[in-house]
Amino acid sequence: MDTEPLILAFCCHYCAYAAADLAGSMRLQYSSNVRVLRLPCTGKLEVNYLLTAFEHGIDGIIVAGCLEGGCHFLEGNLRARKRVERAKKLLAEIGIEPERVEMFNLSSAEGTRFAEIVTEMSGRLARLGKSPLRPDQETIQRNLQEMTDQAEAALVGVKHDCCRSQECA
Ligand code: FES
Repeated sequence: MDTEPLILAFCCHYCAYAAADLAGSMRLQYSSNVRVLRLPCTGKLEVNYLLTAFEHGIDGIIVAGCLEGGCHFLEGNLRARKRVERAKKLLAEIGIEPERVEMFNLSSAEGTRFAEIVTEMSGRLARLGKSPLRPDQETIQRNLQEMTDQAEAALVGVKHDCCRSQECA
């Protein structure tokens, strides 16, 4: 497992997370070394989340949000794209390949596209090699759990908003 690049996918609850779920239901094949973190919207993502993930030993990051014009919070995915571009610049400044992080847009019905994105990033990271910041496997697993807990905590807000707006009725 630790010979493959470790990918973290920050997925919007409304689109990419559902697409990842669909890819699983369709039994599509893609790298098993991707960890999906659900966000209420990619607009929730801050540049420091991306940098911290690299600091924690992740080799590459997928940010997957709704199609442009389709964000449930209007411009969250547009803000996320700017933050990904900012993170790329900062990574380049410290000598880490900026192509280790990429933003994608897709709909909840695009399970096949989700699998393609993971395969594309997996191939790219295999060419780049492991991140120079990668710690030992045990530390990575502990860090992954911590990031998952934080992402789930962030999701509590979206459930609340959903109930308030009667979307889930
Ligand atoms: Fe999906 Fe904003 S709600 S990116």
